[in-house]
Amino acid sequence: LETHERIPVIWLQLMDCTGCSESFIRTAHPAADHVLLDLISLEYSELLSAASGERVEDARKAVMENYPGEYILVVEGNVTEDEFLTVAGHSARETLLETAEGAMAIIAYGSCASWGGIAKASPNPTNAKAVHEVVENTPIIKVPGCPPIAEVMTGVIAHFLTFDELPELDNQGRPKAFYNLRVHDKCNRRAYFDSGLFVESFDDEGAKIGYCLYKVGCAGPTTYNSCAEMRWNGGVSYPIQSGNPCIGCSENHFWDNGPFFTR
Ligand code: SF4
Ligand code: SF4
Ligand code: F3S
Repeated sequence: LETHERIPVIWLQLMDCTGCSESFIRTAHPAADHVLLDLISLEYSELLSAASGERVEDARKAVMENYPGEYILVVEGNVTEDEFLTVAGHSARETLLETAEGAMAIIAYGSCASWGGIAKASPNPTNAKAVHEVVENTPIIKVPGCPPIAEVMTGVIAHFLTFDELPELDNQGRPKAFYNLRVHDKCNRRAYFDSGLFVESFDDEGAKIGYCLYKVGCAGPTTYNSCAEMRWNGGVSYPIQSGNPCIGCSENHFWDNGPFFTR
Protein backbone atom coordinates (compact mmCIF):
# COMPACT_ATOMS: atom_id res chain seq x y z
CA LEU A 1 0.00 0.00 0.00
CA GLU A 2 2.74 2.45 0.93
CA THR A 3 4.46 2.10 -2.43
CA HIS A 4 1.33 2.14 -4.58
CA GLU A 5 0.68 5.18 -6.73
CA ARG A 6 -2.23 7.22 -5.40
CA ILE A 7 -5.33 6.36 -7.36
CA PRO A 8 -7.46 9.22 -8.74
CA VAL A 9 -10.97 9.32 -7.26
CA ILE A 10 -13.99 11.33 -8.34
CA TRP A 11 -16.68 11.35 -5.64
CA LEU A 12 -20.12 12.39 -6.88
CA GLN A 13 -22.90 13.23 -4.46
CA LEU A 14 -26.25 12.75 -6.14
CA MET A 15 -29.49 12.92 -4.11
CA ASP A 16 -28.01 12.26 -0.68
CA CYS A 17 -27.82 13.49 2.87
CA THR A 18 -23.96 13.55 3.04
CA GLY A 19 -24.11 10.93 5.77
CA CYS A 20 -21.94 8.56 3.73
CA SER A 21 -19.21 11.18 3.35
CA GLU A 22 -19.52 11.99 7.04
CA SER A 23 -19.06 8.33 7.87
CA PHE A 24 -16.06 7.99 5.53
CA ILE A 25 -14.08 10.80 7.15
CA ARG A 26 -14.40 9.05 10.51
CA THR A 27 -12.51 5.95 9.45
CA ALA A 28 -9.97 4.97 12.07
CA HIS A 29 -8.19 1.96 10.53
CA PRO A 30 -6.82 3.25 8.18
CA ALA A 31 -7.16 6.83 9.37
CA ALA A 32 -8.98 9.25 7.09
CA ASP A 33 -5.95 11.52 6.63
CA HIS A 34 -3.84 8.52 5.57
CA VAL A 35 -6.45 7.49 3.00
CA LEU A 36 -6.83 11.01 1.64
CA LEU A 37 -3.18 12.05 1.65
CA ASP A 38 -1.36 8.80 0.91
CA LEU A 39 -3.66 6.25 -0.74
CA ILE A 40 -6.04 8.12 -3.04
CA SER A 41 -6.01 11.41 -4.86
CA LEU A 42 -9.48 12.82 -4.27
CA GLU A 43 -9.94 15.14 -7.23
CA TYR A 44 -13.61 15.97 -6.87
CA SER A 45 -15.79 16.00 -3.79
CA GLU A 46 -18.59 18.35 -2.80
CA LEU A 47 -17.68 17.92 0.85
CA LEU A 48 -13.88 17.79 0.82
CA SER A 49 -12.56 19.59 -2.27
CA ALA A 50 -10.90 22.89 -1.43
CA ALA A 51 -11.87 24.26 -4.85
CA SER A 52 -15.43 24.90 -5.95
CA GLY A 53 -17.38 25.99 -9.02
CA GLU A 54 -15.64 25.84 -12.41
CA ARG A 55 -12.29 24.90 -10.89
CA VAL A 56 -13.54 21.71 -9.34
CA GLU A 57 -15.57 20.85 -12.44
CA ASP A 58 -12.37 21.31 -14.46
CA ALA A 59 -10.57 18.99 -12.03
CA ARG A 60 -13.20 16.31 -12.66
CA LYS A 61 -12.84 16.68 -16.43
CA ALA A 62 -9.04 16.60 -16.19
CA VAL A 63 -9.18 13.23 -14.41
CA MET A 64 -11.52 11.87 -17.07
CA GLU A 65 -9.20 13.05 -19.86
CA ASN A 66 -5.85 12.14 -18.29
CA TYR A 67 -6.71 8.87 -16.56
CA PRO A 68 -9.26 7.06 -18.75
CA GLY A 69 -9.91 3.61 -17.32
CA GLU A 70 -7.68 4.34 -14.31
CA TYR A 71 -9.83 6.30 -11.89
CA ILE A 72 -12.41 5.17 -9.39
CA LEU A 73 -15.81 6.79 -9.39
CA VAL A 74 -17.44 6.91 -5.98
CA VAL A 75 -21.16 7.60 -5.99
CA GLU A 76 -23.10 8.66 -2.92
CA GLY A 77 -26.85 9.14 -3.18
CA ASN A 78 -29.34 8.01 -5.78
CA VAL A 79 -30.31 9.09 -9.27
CA THR A 80 -33.52 11.08 -9.71
CA GLU A 81 -35.44 12.47 -12.65
CA ASP A 82 -33.35 15.26 -14.18
CA GLU A 83 -35.42 18.19 -12.92
CA PHE A 84 -34.82 17.33 -9.26
CA LEU A 85 -31.03 17.66 -9.06
CA THR A 86 -28.70 19.80 -11.16
CA VAL A 87 -25.03 20.50 -10.48
CA ALA A 88 -22.95 22.91 -12.59
CA GLY A 89 -25.73 23.23 -15.15
CA HIS A 90 -26.10 19.51 -15.79
CA SER A 91 -28.46 17.01 -14.28
CA ALA A 92 -26.85 14.68 -11.79
CA ARG A 93 -27.84 11.77 -14.03
CA GLU A 94 -25.96 13.25 -17.00
CA THR A 95 -22.88 13.89 -14.86
CA LEU A 96 -23.02 10.34 -13.52
CA LEU A 97 -23.22 8.82 -17.00
CA GLU A 98 -20.44 11.08 -18.32
CA THR A 99 -18.11 10.31 -15.41
CA ALA A 100 -18.92 6.59 -15.32
CA GLU A 101 -17.89 6.07 -18.93
CA GLY A 102 -14.13 6.16 -18.31
CA ALA A 103 -14.09 4.86 -14.74
CA MET A 104 -12.24 1.67 -13.87
CA ALA A 105 -15.08 0.88 -11.46
CA ILE A 106 -17.83 2.53 -9.51
CA ILE A 107 -18.15 2.20 -5.77
CA ALA A 108 -21.80 2.76 -4.87
CA TYR A 109 -21.39 3.95 -1.31
CA GLY A 110 -24.47 3.72 0.85
CA SER A 111 -27.94 2.30 0.53
CA CYS A 112 -29.06 5.24 -1.65
CA ALA A 113 -26.46 4.52 -4.33
CA SER A 114 -26.72 0.73 -3.89
CA TRP A 115 -30.49 0.30 -3.73
CA GLY A 116 -32.17 3.69 -4.13
CA GLY A 117 -32.42 4.42 -0.41
CA ILE A 118 -34.82 6.46 1.66
CA ALA A 119 -35.67 8.84 -1.18
CA LYS A 120 -37.03 5.82 -3.08
CA ALA A 121 -39.58 5.15 -0.35
CA SER A 122 -43.09 4.64 -1.63
CA PRO A 123 -44.51 6.48 -3.54
CA ASN A 124 -41.02 7.53 -4.71
CA PRO A 125 -42.03 11.03 -5.91
CA THR A 126 -38.69 11.78 -7.63
CA ASN A 127 -38.43 8.37 -9.35
CA ALA A 128 -35.19 7.72 -7.45
CA LYS A 129 -33.07 4.84 -8.73
CA ALA A 130 -29.95 2.99 -7.67
CA VAL A 131 -26.75 3.52 -9.67
CA HIS A 132 -26.92 0.07 -11.30
CA GLU A 133 -30.36 0.90 -12.69
CA VAL A 134 -28.85 3.80 -14.67
CA VAL A 135 -25.23 2.87 -15.48
CA GLU A 136 -24.77 -0.17 -17.72
CA ASN A 137 -21.21 -0.85 -18.75
CA THR A 138 -18.99 -0.01 -15.78
CA PRO A 139 -18.36 -2.53 -12.97
CA ILE A 140 -20.23 -1.53 -9.81
CA ILE A 141 -19.37 -2.49 -6.25
CA LYS A 142 -22.24 -1.97 -3.85
CA VAL A 143 -21.29 -0.94 -0.33
CA PRO A 144 -24.70 -0.54 1.27
CA GLY A 145 -25.54 0.87 4.68
CA CYS A 146 -27.21 4.06 5.75
CA PRO A 147 -24.46 5.04 6.03
CA PRO A 148 -21.90 2.26 5.47
CA ILE A 149 -19.31 1.55 8.15
CA ALA A 150 -16.29 3.80 7.59
CA GLU A 151 -13.76 0.95 7.70
CA VAL A 152 -15.80 -1.03 5.17
CA MET A 153 -15.66 1.96 2.84
CA THR A 154 -11.90 2.34 3.16
CA GLY A 155 -11.42 -1.44 3.16
CA VAL A 156 -12.84 -1.64 -0.37
CA ILE A 157 -10.42 1.05 -1.54
CA ALA A 158 -7.52 -0.70 0.22
CA HIS A 159 -8.40 -3.91 -1.63
CA PHE A 160 -8.15 -2.13 -4.99
CA LEU A 161 -4.78 -0.70 -4.12
CA THR A 162 -3.40 -3.93 -2.71
CA PHE A 163 -4.56 -6.38 -5.37
CA ASP A 164 -5.26 -4.17 -8.41
CA GLU A 165 -8.61 -5.86 -8.91
CA LEU A 166 -12.18 -5.73 -7.70
CA PRO A 167 -12.90 -7.52 -4.43
CA GLU A 168 -14.89 -10.73 -4.66
CA LEU A 169 -18.58 -9.85 -4.80
CA ASP A 170 -21.69 -11.74 -3.78
CA ASN A 171 -24.66 -12.28 -6.08
CA GLN A 172 -25.98 -8.80 -5.25
CA GLY A 173 -22.70 -7.04 -6.02
CA ARG A 174 -21.48 -6.53 -2.44
CA PRO A 175 -17.92 -7.36 -1.30
CA LYS A 176 -18.13 -10.79 0.31
CA ALA A 177 -15.48 -9.89 2.88
CA PHE A 178 -17.87 -7.45 4.56
CA TYR A 179 -21.35 -8.71 3.67
CA ASN A 180 -21.19 -12.50 3.92
CA LEU A 181 -22.62 -12.72 7.45
CA ARG A 182 -25.80 -11.47 9.04
CA VAL A 183 -25.57 -9.02 11.94
CA HIS A 184 -27.32 -11.76 13.92
CA ASP A 185 -24.43 -14.19 13.33
CA LYS A 186 -21.92 -12.17 15.39
CA CYS A 187 -24.28 -10.17 17.60
CA ASN A 188 -23.17 -9.56 21.18
CA ARG A 189 -26.76 -10.35 22.32
CA ARG A 190 -26.92 -13.66 20.45
CA ALA A 191 -26.59 -15.80 23.59
CA TYR A 192 -29.80 -14.24 24.90
CA PHE A 193 -31.58 -15.00 21.61
CA ASP A 194 -30.47 -18.63 21.83
CA SER A 195 -31.67 -18.78 25.45
CA GLY A 196 -35.05 -17.24 24.65
CA LEU A 197 -34.42 -14.13 26.72
CA PHE A 198 -35.95 -11.11 24.99
CA VAL A 199 -36.58 -7.43 25.59
CA GLU A 200 -40.39 -7.10 25.56
CA SER A 201 -40.46 -3.28 25.79
CA PHE A 202 -37.72 -0.67 25.77
CA ASP A 203 -38.12 0.18 29.45
CA ASP A 204 -38.29 -3.32 30.94
CA GLU A 205 -35.75 -5.20 33.04
CA GLY A 206 -34.56 -7.22 30.03
CA ALA A 207 -33.62 -3.99 28.24
CA LYS A 208 -31.52 -2.96 31.23
CA ILE A 209 -29.76 -6.32 31.33
CA GLY A 210 -29.14 -6.34 27.57
CA TYR A 211 -31.43 -9.16 26.37
CA CYS A 212 -32.04 -9.84 22.69
CA LEU A 213 -33.98 -7.12 20.80
CA TYR A 214 -35.80 -9.45 18.38
CA LYS A 215 -39.25 -8.85 19.87
CA VAL A 216 -38.88 -5.08 19.62
CA GLY A 217 -38.16 -5.27 15.93
CA CYS A 218 -34.51 -6.21 15.45
CA ALA A 219 -33.77 -7.00 11.80
CA GLY A 220 -30.35 -8.49 12.55
CA PRO A 221 -31.45 -12.02 11.50
CA THR A 222 -32.13 -10.83 7.94
CA THR A 223 -29.46 -8.13 7.56
CA TYR A 224 -26.08 -8.69 5.94
CA ASN A 225 -23.49 -6.24 7.28
CA SER A 226 -20.31 -6.18 9.40
CA CYS A 227 -21.61 -4.03 12.25
CA ALA A 228 -21.34 -6.71 14.93
CA GLU A 229 -17.76 -7.60 13.96
CA MET A 230 -16.25 -4.24 12.98
CA ARG A 231 -18.49 -1.91 15.01
CA TRP A 232 -18.58 1.84 14.55
CA ASN A 233 -16.45 4.79 15.63
CA GLY A 234 -13.23 2.85 15.40
CA GLY A 235 -14.71 -0.37 16.80
CA VAL A 236 -16.44 1.15 19.84
CA SER A 237 -20.08 0.10 19.41
CA TYR A 238 -22.98 -0.42 17.00
CA PRO A 239 -26.75 0.10 17.17
CA ILE A 240 -27.61 -3.17 18.93
CA GLN A 241 -24.83 -2.83 21.49
CA SER A 242 -26.17 0.65 22.22
CA GLY A 243 -29.70 -0.68 22.83
CA ASN A 244 -31.32 0.02 19.45
CA PRO A 245 -32.65 -2.80 17.27
CA CYS A 246 -31.03 -3.14 13.86
CA ILE A 247 -33.36 -1.56 11.27
CA GLY A 248 -31.65 -3.39 8.41
CA CYS A 249 -30.17 -0.21 6.96
CA SER A 250 -27.90 -2.10 4.55
CA GLU A 251 -30.73 -4.13 3.01
CA ASN A 252 -32.68 -3.31 -0.11
CA HIS A 253 -36.14 -1.84 0.63
CA PHE A 254 -35.40 -1.37 4.34
CA TRP A 255 -37.09 2.03 4.10
CA ASP A 256 -40.44 0.47 3.16
CA ASN A 257 -40.18 -2.45 5.59
CA GLY A 258 -41.19 -0.52 8.71
CA PRO A 259 -42.42 0.32 11.21
CA PHE A 260 -38.93 -0.40 12.45
CA PHE A 261 -39.56 -1.24 16.10
CA THR A 262 -42.85 -3.16 16.14
CA ARG A 263 -42.49 -6.15 13.83
FE1 SF4 B 1 -27.56 9.53 3.60
FE2 SF4 B 1 -28.09 6.97 4.13
FE3 SF4 B 1 -28.24 7.84 1.63
FE4 SF4 B 1 -25.84 7.65 2.79
S1 SF4 B 1 -27.24 5.95 2.31
S2 SF4 B 1 -26.61 9.40 1.56
S3 SF4 B 1 -26.35 8.15 4.93
S4 SF4 B 1 -29.58 8.53 3.35
FE1 SF4 C 1 -30.17 -11.33 16.61
FE2 SF4 C 1 -31.01 -8.81 16.93
FE3 SF4 C 1 -31.15 -10.53 18.95
FE4 SF4 C 1 -28.80 -9.62 18.10
S1 SF4 C 1 -30.43 -8.41 19.06
S2 SF4 C 1 -29.31 -11.73 18.61
S3 SF4 C 1 -29.16 -9.49 15.89
S4 SF4 C 1 -32.28 -10.66 16.98
FE1 F3S D 1 -27.54 -0.62 10.04
FE2 F3S D 1 -28.30 -2.71 11.47
FE3 F3S D 1 -25.77 -2.10 11.29
S1 F3S D 1 -29.30 -0.71 11.36
S2 F3S D 1 -25.77 0.11 11.18
S3 F3S D 1 -27.10 -2.75 9.61
S4 F3S D 1 -26.80 -2.92 13.08
